[in-house]
Amino acid sequence: MARKGGVLSQLDLVIVLAAGEGTRMKSTRPKVLHEIAGATLISHVLTATKELKPHELRVVVGAAADEVKLEINQIYPSAKTVLQEVRSGTGDAVRRALTKSDSGKVLVCAADTPLITTETLAALVAAHSKSGAAATVLTTEVPDPTGYGRIVRDAGKLTKIVEERDASESEREINEINTGVYIFEIEKLFNSLAGLSNSNSQGEAYLTDVIAILKGKGESVATYEAHDFTEFLGINDRSQLADVSAIYRDRINEALMLSGVTIVDPQSTWIDLSVEIASDVRVEPGTTLRGNSKISSGAVLGPRTTLVDCKVGAGAHILESHCESSEIGAGAKVGPYAHLRSGTVLAGDVKVGSFVEMKNAEVGTGSKVPHLSYVGDAKIGKESNIGAATIFVNYDGVEKHETKVGDHVRIGSDSMLIAPVSIGDGAYTAAGSVIDEDVPAGALGIGRARQVNILGWVLKKRKGTKSAAAAEKKEK
Ligand code: UD1
Ligand code: MG
Repeated sequence: MARKGGVLSQLDLVIVLAAGEGTRMKSTRPKVLHEIAGATLISHVLTATKELKPHELRVVVGAAADEVKLEINQIYPSAKTVLQEVRSGTGDAVRRALTKSDSGKVLVCAADTPLITTETLAALVAAHSKSGAAATVLTTEVPDPTGYGRIVRDAGKLTKIVEERDASESEREINEINTGVYIFEIEKLFNSLAGLSNSNSQGEAYLTDVIAILKGKGESVATYEAHDFTEFLGINDRSQLADVSAIYRDRINEALMLSGVTIVDPQSTWIDLSVEIASDVRVEPGTTLRGNSKISSGAVLGPRTTLVDCKVGAGAHILESHCESSEIGAGAKVGPYAHLRSGTVLAGDVKVGSFVEMKNAEVGTGSKVPHLSYVGDAKIGKESNIGAATIFVNYDGVEKHETKVGDHVRIGSDSMLIAPVSIGDGAYTAAGSVIDEDVPAGALGIGRARQVNILGWVLKKRKGTKSAAAAEKKEK
Protein backbone atom coordinates (compact mmCIF):
# COMPACT_ATOMS: atom_id res chain seq x y z
CA MET A 1 0.00 0.00 0.00
CA ALA A 2 2.92 2.35 0.72
CA ARG A 3 4.24 4.27 -2.27
CA LYS A 4 7.65 5.70 -2.81
CA GLY A 5 8.23 9.32 -1.86
CA GLY A 6 8.89 9.68 1.89
CA VAL A 7 6.13 11.14 4.04
CA LEU A 8 3.78 11.41 1.12
CA SER A 9 3.24 7.67 1.15
CA GLN A 10 2.57 7.28 4.85
CA LEU A 11 -1.00 8.49 5.29
CA ASP A 12 -3.85 6.07 4.86
CA LEU A 13 -6.60 8.54 5.52
CA VAL A 14 -7.29 12.24 5.97
CA ILE A 15 -10.45 13.40 7.74
CA VAL A 16 -11.46 17.04 7.24
CA LEU A 17 -14.08 18.34 9.67
CA ALA A 18 -16.53 20.68 7.96
CA ALA A 19 -19.91 20.07 9.57
CA GLY A 20 -20.03 23.23 11.70
CA GLU A 21 -22.70 25.82 11.00
CA GLY A 22 -20.51 28.90 11.05
CA THR A 23 -23.27 30.93 12.69
CA ARG A 24 -20.92 33.77 13.56
CA MET A 25 -20.37 34.52 9.85
CA LYS A 26 -24.03 35.67 9.81
CA SER A 27 -24.28 34.53 6.21
CA THR A 28 -26.61 32.60 3.95
CA ARG A 29 -23.49 31.01 2.50
CA PRO A 30 -21.93 28.13 4.46
CA LYS A 31 -18.78 29.26 6.26
CA VAL A 32 -16.40 26.92 4.45
CA LEU A 33 -17.58 28.30 1.09
CA HIS A 34 -16.48 31.84 1.88
CA GLU A 35 -13.41 32.80 -0.13
CA ILE A 36 -9.83 33.83 0.38
CA ALA A 37 -7.58 34.68 -2.60
CA GLY A 38 -10.33 33.57 -4.97
CA ALA A 39 -10.78 30.09 -3.53
CA THR A 40 -13.11 28.72 -0.86
CA LEU A 41 -11.84 28.05 2.65
CA ILE A 42 -12.42 24.34 2.24
CA SER A 43 -10.60 24.27 -1.10
CA HIS A 44 -7.46 25.70 0.52
CA VAL A 45 -7.51 22.93 3.12
CA LEU A 46 -8.31 20.21 0.59
CA THR A 47 -5.50 21.40 -1.67
CA ALA A 48 -3.00 21.41 1.20
CA THR A 49 -3.97 17.86 2.21
CA LYS A 50 -4.24 16.55 -1.36
CA GLU A 51 -0.54 17.07 -1.87
CA LEU A 52 0.15 14.66 0.99
CA LYS A 53 -1.31 11.98 -1.31
CA PRO A 54 -3.30 10.10 1.33
CA HIS A 55 -4.87 6.88 0.13
CA GLU A 56 -8.27 8.23 1.03
CA LEU A 57 -9.88 11.49 2.11
CA ARG A 58 -13.19 11.88 3.90
CA VAL A 59 -14.92 15.14 4.70
CA VAL A 60 -17.52 15.37 7.47
CA VAL A 61 -20.28 17.65 6.26
CA GLY A 62 -23.43 18.86 8.00
CA ALA A 63 -24.63 22.43 7.54
CA ALA A 64 -25.58 23.11 3.87
CA ALA A 65 -24.21 19.68 3.05
CA ASP A 66 -25.32 19.67 -0.59
CA GLU A 67 -23.61 22.93 -1.48
CA VAL A 68 -20.45 21.94 0.37
CA LYS A 69 -20.41 18.55 -1.36
CA LEU A 70 -20.55 20.21 -4.80
CA GLU A 71 -17.47 22.24 -3.95
CA ILE A 72 -15.62 19.21 -2.55
CA ASN A 73 -16.39 17.31 -5.73
CA GLN A 74 -14.86 20.10 -7.84
CA ILE A 75 -11.64 20.28 -5.88
CA TYR A 76 -11.15 16.68 -4.88
CA PRO A 77 -13.40 14.38 -6.90
CA SER A 78 -12.22 11.20 -5.19
CA ALA A 79 -13.01 12.55 -1.68
CA LYS A 80 -15.85 10.88 0.17
CA THR A 81 -18.28 12.76 2.35
CA VAL A 82 -19.83 11.65 5.62
CA LEU A 83 -22.94 13.31 6.98
CA GLN A 84 -23.16 14.56 10.56
CA GLU A 85 -26.67 15.92 10.71
CA VAL A 86 -26.53 17.34 14.21
CA ARG A 87 -23.45 19.07 15.56
CA SER A 88 -22.38 16.84 18.44
CA GLY A 89 -18.71 17.68 18.67
CA THR A 90 -15.44 17.03 16.89
CA GLY A 91 -15.15 13.59 18.53
CA ASP A 92 -18.56 12.61 17.22
CA ALA A 93 -17.65 13.90 13.75
CA VAL A 94 -14.50 11.76 13.60
CA ARG A 95 -16.40 8.74 14.99
CA ARG A 96 -18.83 8.99 12.07
CA ALA A 97 -16.00 9.19 9.55
CA LEU A 98 -14.33 5.96 10.72
CA THR A 99 -15.30 2.33 10.33
CA LYS A 100 -14.06 -0.68 12.21
CA SER A 101 -12.20 -1.99 9.20
CA ASP A 102 -10.05 1.17 8.77
CA SER A 103 -6.40 0.83 9.65
CA GLY A 104 -3.11 2.70 9.41
CA LYS A 105 -2.58 6.38 10.03
CA VAL A 106 -5.15 9.18 9.84
CA LEU A 107 -4.58 12.93 9.74
CA VAL A 108 -7.48 14.94 11.18
CA CYS A 109 -7.88 18.68 10.50
CA ALA A 110 -10.60 21.34 10.22
CA ALA A 111 -11.91 23.04 7.08
CA ASP A 112 -11.87 26.54 8.54
CA THR A 113 -8.10 26.99 8.85
CA PRO A 114 -7.15 27.82 5.25
CA LEU A 115 -3.60 28.93 5.98
CA ILE A 116 -2.25 25.47 6.83
CA THR A 117 0.50 24.41 4.46
CA THR A 118 1.41 21.07 2.98
CA GLU A 119 4.97 21.53 4.30
CA THR A 120 3.80 21.77 7.92
CA LEU A 121 1.43 18.83 7.51
CA ALA A 122 4.22 16.78 5.92
CA ALA A 123 6.52 17.68 8.83
CA LEU A 124 3.83 16.45 11.24
CA VAL A 125 3.52 13.17 9.33
CA ALA A 126 7.30 12.73 9.49
CA ALA A 127 7.41 13.54 13.23
CA HIS A 128 4.64 11.05 13.92
CA SER A 129 6.36 8.27 12.02
CA LYS A 130 9.59 8.93 13.85
CA SER A 131 8.04 8.93 17.33
CA GLY A 132 5.99 5.79 16.81
CA ALA A 133 3.35 7.24 19.16
CA ALA A 134 -0.36 6.37 19.12
CA ALA A 135 -1.10 10.01 18.32
CA THR A 136 0.81 13.19 17.52
CA VAL A 137 -0.79 16.55 18.21
CA LEU A 138 0.28 19.58 16.16
CA THR A 139 0.72 22.42 18.64
CA THR A 140 1.92 26.00 18.45
CA GLU A 141 2.55 28.92 20.79
CA VAL A 142 0.30 31.91 20.29
CA PRO A 143 0.49 35.39 21.81
CA ASP A 144 -3.21 35.24 22.73
CA PRO A 145 -4.56 31.73 23.32
CA THR A 146 -8.16 32.86 23.92
CA GLY A 147 -10.64 30.37 22.52
CA TYR A 148 -8.21 27.55 21.81
CA GLY A 149 -7.73 24.22 23.55
CA ARG A 150 -4.63 24.34 25.80
CA ILE A 151 -1.80 21.83 25.78
CA VAL A 152 -1.35 20.62 29.38
CA ARG A 153 2.01 19.04 30.11
CA ASP A 154 3.52 17.25 33.08
CA ALA A 155 7.29 17.18 33.23
CA GLY A 156 7.31 18.27 29.60
CA LYS A 157 5.00 15.48 28.43
CA LEU A 158 1.50 16.09 27.07
CA THR A 159 -1.10 14.80 29.50
CA LYS A 160 -4.32 16.27 28.11
CA ILE A 161 -5.89 19.00 26.02
CA VAL A 162 -8.32 21.19 27.87
CA GLU A 163 -10.81 23.45 26.10
CA GLU A 164 -10.89 27.12 27.09
CA ARG A 165 -14.37 26.86 28.62
CA ASP A 166 -13.41 23.85 30.73
CA ALA A 167 -9.96 25.10 31.72
CA SER A 168 -8.86 26.19 35.19
CA GLU A 169 -7.43 29.66 35.65
CA SER A 170 -3.85 28.42 35.57
CA GLU A 171 -4.50 26.28 32.50
CA ARG A 172 -5.87 29.33 30.69
CA GLU A 173 -2.48 30.95 31.06
CA ILE A 174 -0.84 28.32 28.87
CA ASN A 175 0.16 29.77 25.50
CA GLU A 176 0.77 26.47 23.77
CA ILE A 177 -2.45 25.54 21.99
CA ASN A 178 -4.00 22.67 20.08
CA THR A 179 -4.07 23.56 16.39
CA GLY A 180 -6.85 21.04 15.78
CA VAL A 181 -4.52 19.01 13.53
CA TYR A 182 -3.52 15.52 14.63
CA ILE A 183 -2.29 12.18 13.39
CA PHE A 184 -3.62 9.01 14.99
CA GLU A 185 -3.03 5.31 14.63
CA ILE A 186 -6.52 4.48 13.43
CA GLU A 187 -7.31 1.36 15.51
CA LYS A 188 -6.22 3.10 18.72
CA LEU A 189 -8.25 6.18 17.87
CA PHE A 190 -11.29 4.08 17.00
CA ASN A 191 -11.22 2.27 20.34
CA SER A 192 -10.74 5.48 22.30
CA LEU A 193 -13.60 7.32 20.56
CA ALA A 194 -15.99 4.81 22.10
CA GLY A 195 -14.99 6.12 25.52
CA LEU A 196 -15.81 9.82 24.89
CA SER A 197 -18.38 11.48 27.11
CA ASN A 198 -20.38 14.67 26.71
CA SER A 199 -19.79 15.86 30.24
CA ASN A 200 -18.22 19.20 29.39
CA SER A 201 -19.39 22.79 29.13
CA GLN A 202 -20.69 22.35 25.56
CA GLY A 203 -22.26 18.92 26.06
CA GLU A 204 -20.33 17.67 23.02
CA ALA A 205 -18.03 14.73 22.35
CA TYR A 206 -14.62 16.41 22.10
CA LEU A 207 -11.98 14.81 19.91
CA THR A 208 -9.43 16.41 22.21
CA ASP A 209 -10.48 14.11 25.07
CA VAL A 210 -9.05 11.17 23.14
CA ILE A 211 -5.60 12.30 24.22
CA ALA A 212 -6.24 11.74 27.94
CA ILE A 213 -8.03 8.45 27.13
CA LEU A 214 -5.01 7.18 25.18
CA LYS A 215 -2.69 8.24 27.99
CA GLY A 216 -4.92 6.42 30.46
CA LYS A 217 -4.46 3.26 28.42
CA GLY A 218 -0.71 3.64 28.69
CA GLU A 219 -0.27 4.73 25.07
CA SER A 220 2.34 7.31 24.16
CA VAL A 221 1.14 10.59 22.71
CA ALA A 222 3.60 12.95 21.04
CA THR A 223 3.45 16.61 20.09
CA TYR A 224 4.98 18.45 17.17
CA GLU A 225 5.32 22.19 17.58
CA ALA A 226 4.88 24.43 14.54
CA HIS A 227 6.68 27.75 14.62
CA ASP A 228 4.39 29.94 12.54
CA PHE A 229 1.16 30.16 14.52
CA THR A 230 -0.54 32.17 11.77
CA GLU A 231 -0.96 28.94 9.80
CA PHE A 232 -3.59 27.84 12.28
CA LEU A 233 -5.68 30.94 12.55
CA GLY A 234 -9.26 29.82 12.24
CA ILE A 235 -12.14 31.71 10.70
CA ASN A 236 -15.29 32.09 12.72
CA ASP A 237 -16.44 35.60 11.75
CA ARG A 238 -15.94 38.21 9.01
CA SER A 239 -13.28 40.05 10.96
CA GLN A 240 -11.15 36.90 11.11
CA LEU A 241 -11.92 36.34 7.42
CA ALA A 242 -10.36 39.74 6.66
CA ASP A 243 -7.34 39.07 8.92
CA VAL A 244 -6.64 35.70 7.33
CA SER A 245 -7.20 37.13 3.82
CA ALA A 246 -4.55 39.75 4.51
CA ILE A 247 -2.05 37.12 5.66
CA TYR A 248 -2.78 35.08 2.56
CA ARG A 249 -2.38 38.15 0.35
CA ASP A 250 1.05 38.79 1.90
CA ARG A 251 2.07 35.19 1.29
CA ILE A 252 1.11 35.36 -2.38
CA ASN A 253 2.75 38.76 -2.90
CA GLU A 254 5.92 37.66 -1.13
CA ALA A 255 6.24 34.60 -3.36
CA LEU A 256 5.62 36.71 -6.50
CA MET A 257 8.16 39.35 -5.48
CA LEU A 258 10.75 36.64 -4.85
CA SER A 259 9.99 35.28 -8.32
CA GLY A 260 10.82 38.63 -9.91
CA VAL A 261 7.53 40.55 -9.98
CA THR A 262 7.64 44.18 -8.81
CA ILE A 263 4.74 44.95 -6.48
CA VAL A 264 4.94 48.63 -5.61
CA ASP A 265 2.48 48.51 -2.70
CA PRO A 266 1.89 44.92 -1.53
CA GLN A 267 -0.75 45.94 1.01
CA SER A 268 -3.10 47.33 -1.63
CA THR A 269 -2.44 44.58 -4.17
CA TRP A 270 -4.76 41.57 -4.09
CA ILE A 271 -3.81 38.65 -6.32
CA ASP A 272 -5.68 35.36 -6.45
CA LEU A 273 -3.72 32.19 -5.95
CA SER A 274 -4.78 31.06 -9.43
CA VAL A 275 -3.15 34.02 -11.25
CA GLU A 276 0.09 33.43 -13.18
CA ILE A 277 2.56 36.30 -13.46
CA ALA A 278 5.89 36.24 -15.28
CA SER A 279 8.98 37.95 -13.95
CA ASP A 280 9.55 41.65 -14.68
CA VAL A 281 5.87 42.48 -14.50
CA ARG A 282 5.22 45.67 -12.52
CA VAL A 283 2.07 45.90 -10.42
CA GLU A 284 1.14 49.41 -9.33
CA PRO A 285 -0.88 50.23 -6.16
CA GLY A 286 -4.55 49.39 -5.77
CA THR A 287 -4.54 46.54 -8.28
CA THR A 288 -6.56 43.33 -8.06
CA LEU A 289 -5.80 40.33 -10.27
CA ARG A 290 -8.33 37.54 -10.16
CA GLY A 291 -9.29 34.16 -11.51
CA ASN A 292 -7.35 32.58 -14.33
CA SER A 293 -5.46 35.68 -15.34
CA LYS A 294 -2.09 35.20 -16.98
CA ILE A 295 0.36 38.07 -17.27
CA SER A 296 3.42 38.03 -19.51
CA SER A 297 6.77 39.59 -18.84
CA GLY A 298 7.22 43.34 -18.93
CA ALA A 299 3.54 44.18 -18.52
CA VAL A 300 2.63 47.12 -16.27
CA LEU A 301 -0.68 46.81 -14.43
CA GLY A 302 -2.29 49.64 -12.47
CA PRO A 303 -2.53 51.75 -10.52
CA ARG A 304 -6.10 50.84 -9.56
CA THR A 305 -6.69 48.16 -12.16
CA THR A 306 -8.81 45.03 -11.83
CA LEU A 307 -8.33 42.06 -14.13
CA VAL A 308 -10.59 39.01 -13.93
CA ASP A 309 -9.71 36.00 -16.11
CA CYS A 310 -7.57 38.08 -18.49
CA LYS A 311 -4.56 37.22 -20.59
CA VAL A 312 -2.05 40.05 -20.88
CA GLY A 313 0.76 40.02 -23.46
CA ALA A 314 4.37 41.04 -22.96
CA GLY A 315 4.93 44.71 -22.30
CA ALA A 316 1.25 45.69 -22.29
CA HIS A 317 0.22 48.62 -20.07
CA ILE A 318 -3.17 48.68 -18.35
CA LEU A 319 -3.87 51.78 -16.33
CA GLU A 320 -6.86 52.53 -14.04
CA SER A 321 -9.07 50.02 -15.85
CA HIS A 322 -11.44 47.12 -15.28
CA CYS A 323 -11.15 44.10 -17.60
CA GLU A 324 -12.97 40.77 -17.57
CA SER A 325 -12.45 37.66 -19.70
CA SER A 326 -10.37 39.59 -22.22
CA GLU A 327 -7.08 39.19 -24.04
CA ILE A 328 -4.74 42.14 -24.24
CA GLY A 329 -1.97 41.73 -26.81
CA ALA A 330 1.73 42.43 -26.44
CA GLY A 331 2.55 46.11 -26.24
CA ALA A 332 -1.12 47.15 -26.08
CA LYS A 333 -2.06 50.22 -24.04
CA VAL A 334 -5.36 50.27 -22.16
CA GLY A 335 -6.80 53.10 -20.07
CA PRO A 336 -6.98 55.14 -18.06
CA TYR A 337 -10.64 54.36 -17.33
CA ALA A 338 -11.34 51.65 -19.86
CA HIS A 339 -13.80 48.81 -19.35
CA LEU A 340 -13.04 45.67 -21.33
CA ARG A 341 -15.87 43.21 -21.00
CA SER A 342 -16.02 39.56 -21.84
CA GLY A 343 -14.81 38.51 -25.29
CA THR A 344 -12.58 41.50 -25.97
CA VAL A 345 -9.45 40.45 -27.86
CA LEU A 346 -6.85 43.13 -28.53
CA ALA A 347 -3.97 42.24 -30.83
CA GLY A 348 -0.47 43.62 -30.31
CA ASP A 349 0.10 47.38 -30.03
CA VAL A 350 -3.59 48.25 -29.87
CA LYS A 351 -4.55 51.38 -27.97
CA VAL A 352 -7.79 51.62 -26.02
CA GLY A 353 -8.04 54.98 -24.29
CA SER A 354 -10.13 56.82 -21.73
CA PHE A 355 -13.80 56.06 -21.18
CA VAL A 356 -13.93 53.29 -23.75
CA GLU A 357 -16.11 50.25 -23.16
CA MET A 358 -15.66 47.11 -25.24
CA LYS A 359 -17.50 43.82 -25.37
CA ASN A 360 -17.07 40.82 -27.65
CA ALA A 361 -14.76 42.82 -29.88
CA GLU A 362 -11.64 41.85 -31.80
CA VAL A 363 -9.22 44.64 -32.56
CA GLY A 364 -6.34 44.09 -35.03
CA THR A 365 -2.70 45.01 -34.61
CA GLY A 366 -1.95 48.68 -34.15
CA SER A 367 -5.56 49.88 -34.25
CA LYS A 368 -6.70 52.63 -31.89
CA VAL A 369 -9.90 53.44 -30.03
CA PRO A 370 -8.52 56.37 -28.10
CA HIS A 371 -11.48 58.19 -26.53
CA LEU A 372 -15.06 57.95 -25.26
CA SER A 373 -16.38 55.04 -27.32
CA TYR A 374 -18.52 51.92 -27.06
CA VAL A 375 -17.36 48.99 -29.18
CA GLY A 376 -19.67 45.97 -28.92
CA ASP A 377 -19.88 42.86 -31.13
CA ALA A 378 -17.23 44.08 -33.54
CA LYS A 379 -14.27 43.04 -35.62
CA ILE A 380 -11.79 45.80 -36.36
CA GLY A 381 -8.84 45.17 -38.70
CA LYS A 382 -5.26 46.41 -38.55
CA GLU A 383 -4.08 49.97 -37.99
CA SER A 384 -7.52 51.52 -38.08
CA ASN A 385 -8.48 54.55 -36.02
CA ILE A 386 -11.85 54.90 -34.38
CA GLY A 387 -12.50 58.61 -33.74
CA ALA A 388 -13.55 59.98 -30.37
CA ALA A 389 -17.10 59.26 -29.22
CA THR A 390 -17.82 56.60 -31.83
CA ILE A 391 -20.58 54.21 -30.85
CA PHE A 392 -20.96 50.76 -32.30
CA VAL A 393 -24.75 50.53 -32.20
CA ASN A 394 -25.03 46.77 -31.78
CA TYR A 395 -28.48 46.37 -30.21
CA ASP A 396 -31.77 46.94 -32.01
CA GLY A 397 -33.73 46.44 -28.84
CA VAL A 398 -34.22 42.75 -29.46
CA GLU A 399 -31.06 41.31 -30.97
CA LYS A 400 -27.35 42.09 -31.09
CA HIS A 401 -25.65 42.57 -34.48
CA GLU A 402 -22.06 42.69 -35.65
CA THR A 403 -20.00 45.54 -37.11
CA LYS A 404 -16.97 44.93 -39.29
CA VAL A 405 -14.28 47.52 -39.77
CA GLY A 406 -11.44 46.75 -42.21
CA ASP A 407 -7.73 47.62 -42.16
CA HIS A 408 -6.46 51.23 -42.23
CA VAL A 409 -9.97 52.64 -41.73
CA ARG A 410 -10.56 56.15 -40.33
CA ILE A 411 -13.87 56.45 -38.49
CA GLY A 412 -14.69 60.13 -37.92
CA SER A 413 -15.45 61.37 -34.43
CA ASP A 414 -18.97 60.91 -33.14
CA SER A 415 -19.92 58.30 -35.72
CA MET A 416 -22.80 55.91 -35.03
CA LEU A 417 -22.11 52.58 -36.76
CA ILE A 418 -25.49 50.90 -36.85
CA ALA A 419 -25.01 47.13 -36.97
CA PRO A 420 -25.09 45.02 -38.98
CA VAL A 421 -22.76 47.16 -41.02
CA SER A 422 -19.37 46.85 -42.61
CA ILE A 423 -16.69 49.46 -43.34
CA GLY A 424 -14.27 48.38 -46.08
CA ASP A 425 -10.45 48.54 -46.01
CA GLY A 426 -9.06 52.04 -46.21
CA ALA A 427 -12.53 53.66 -45.97
CA TYR A 428 -13.36 56.85 -44.05
CA THR A 429 -16.55 58.01 -42.34
CA ALA A 430 -17.27 61.71 -41.89
CA ALA A 431 -17.42 62.98 -38.31
CA GLY A 432 -20.92 62.98 -36.84
CA SER A 433 -22.24 60.41 -39.30
CA VAL A 434 -24.95 57.87 -38.68
CA ILE A 435 -23.74 54.96 -40.80
CA ASP A 436 -26.38 52.34 -41.45
CA GLU A 437 -25.24 51.21 -44.89
CA ASP A 438 -21.99 49.42 -45.73
CA VAL A 439 -19.13 51.71 -46.76
CA PRO A 440 -17.07 50.15 -49.59
CA ALA A 441 -13.27 50.00 -49.44
CA GLY A 442 -11.68 53.39 -50.04
CA ALA A 443 -15.00 55.32 -49.91
CA LEU A 444 -15.96 58.19 -47.60
CA GLY A 445 -19.25 57.44 -45.88
CA ILE A 446 -21.22 60.54 -44.94
CA GLY A 447 -24.48 60.10 -43.12
CA ARG A 448 -25.61 63.47 -41.80
CA ALA A 449 -27.70 66.49 -42.86
CA ARG A 450 -25.80 69.09 -44.90
CA GLN A 451 -25.00 72.26 -42.93
CA VAL A 452 -26.89 75.45 -43.71
CA ASN A 453 -25.75 78.91 -42.40
CA ILE A 454 -28.58 81.47 -42.02
CA LEU A 455 -26.72 84.75 -42.19
CA GLY A 456 -27.72 87.56 -39.79
CA TRP A 457 -30.01 85.32 -37.79
CA VAL A 458 -28.71 86.39 -34.35
CA LEU A 459 -29.04 90.10 -35.03
CA LYS A 460 -32.61 89.52 -36.17
CA LYS A 461 -33.83 86.97 -33.65
CA ARG A 462 -31.69 87.72 -30.58
CA LYS A 463 -31.62 91.43 -30.51
CA GLY A 464 -30.10 93.03 -27.42
CA THR A 465 -28.13 89.94 -26.32
CA LYS A 466 -24.38 89.86 -25.74
CA SER A 467 -24.14 87.53 -28.73
CA ALA A 468 -25.87 90.07 -30.93
CA ALA A 469 -23.53 92.83 -29.65
CA ALA A 470 -20.48 90.66 -30.36
CA ALA A 471 -21.77 89.84 -33.84
CA GLU A 472 -22.52 93.48 -34.60
CA LYS A 473 -19.03 94.56 -33.52
CA LYS A 474 -17.47 91.96 -35.80
CA GLU A 475 -19.60 93.10 -38.75
CA LYS A 476 -18.42 96.71 -38.44
C1 UD1 B 1 -11.20 22.99 18.24
C2 UD1 B 1 -10.50 22.15 19.32
C3 UD1 B 1 -9.54 23.05 20.08
C4 UD1 B 1 -8.55 23.68 19.13
C5 UD1 B 1 -9.27 24.40 18.00
C6 UD1 B 1 -8.27 24.84 16.95
C7 UD1 B 1 -12.16 20.48 20.05
C8 UD1 B 1 -13.12 20.09 21.09
N1 UD1 B 1 -11.48 21.62 20.24
O1 UD1 B 1 -11.96 23.96 18.90
O2 UD1 B 1 -8.83 22.29 21.05
O3 UD1 B 1 -7.69 24.57 19.83
O4 UD1 B 1 -10.22 23.53 17.37
O5 UD1 B 1 -8.89 25.64 15.98
O6 UD1 B 1 -11.98 19.76 19.10
N2 UD1 B 1 -17.02 20.29 13.57
C9 UD1 B 1 -17.78 19.29 13.04
N3 UD1 B 1 -18.75 18.73 13.79
C10 UD1 B 1 -18.98 19.09 15.08
C11 UD1 B 1 -18.19 20.12 15.61
C12 UD1 B 1 -17.21 20.70 14.84
O7 UD1 B 1 -17.59 18.91 11.87
O8 UD1 B 1 -19.88 18.53 15.69
C13 UD1 B 1 -15.98 20.90 12.75
C14 UD1 B 1 -16.17 22.38 12.54
O9 UD1 B 1 -16.90 22.61 11.35
C15 UD1 B 1 -14.75 22.88 12.42
C16 UD1 B 1 -13.95 21.90 13.26
O10 UD1 B 1 -14.75 20.76 13.43
O11 UD1 B 1 -14.30 22.82 11.08
C17 UD1 B 1 -13.58 22.47 14.63
O12 UD1 B 1 -14.76 22.83 15.32
P1 UD1 B 1 -14.87 24.20 16.10
O13 UD1 B 1 -16.21 24.31 16.65
O14 UD1 B 1 -14.35 25.30 15.26
O15 UD1 B 1 -13.88 23.87 17.30
P2 UD1 B 1 -13.07 24.91 18.15
O16 UD1 B 1 -13.92 25.45 19.22
O17 UD1 B 1 -12.40 25.86 17.25
MG1 MG C 1 -12.70 26.62 15.22
